[in-house]
Amino acid sequence: MTKKLFDFDLEFKLGIEAIDNEHIKLVDMLNQTHALLSEGKKDEARVYFGQTLSEYVNEHFTNEEKFMESIGYPGLDEHKKIHENFKKSFQELAPTIDSFDEAAFRKALSDAFTWIISHIGKTDKKYVTFYVSQK
Ligand SMILES: [Fe+2]
Ligand SMILES: [Fe+2]
Repeated sequence: MTKKLFDFDLEFKLGIEAIDNEHIKLVDMLNQTHALLSEGKKDEARVYFGQTLSEYVNEHFTNEEKFMESIGYPGLDEHKKIHENFKKSFQELAPTIDSFDEAAFRKALSDAFTWIISHIGKTDKKYVTFYVSQK
């Protein structure tokens, strides 16, 4: 069995089920890319990371922004900008993904993983703190 890049730890659960499920799915997708790579399925890894995962990131950001808007979160604009920057950096990875330089691809995957985990633990946590304080 392929070793997982990361196991979704309890501390990354924010307490809002729909959002938590999306975060879990994102981490699963990163693990899945890593697994495909480890099995030597380069083309599948390429398409999975560059399309499936990338599209799901966008979907998640949209859902999360809708949620923040629905609770009147004052940090919405700032959070949206952070999402936009990540989407841009993901788009900039396209040549790396297409040309498939394995070392560069692995670095991109690892960077995306680090970014997503740190974003959940720091930036996403802030709107949850606000949400809880409003209840
Ligand atoms: Fe998120
Ligand atoms: Fe976010």
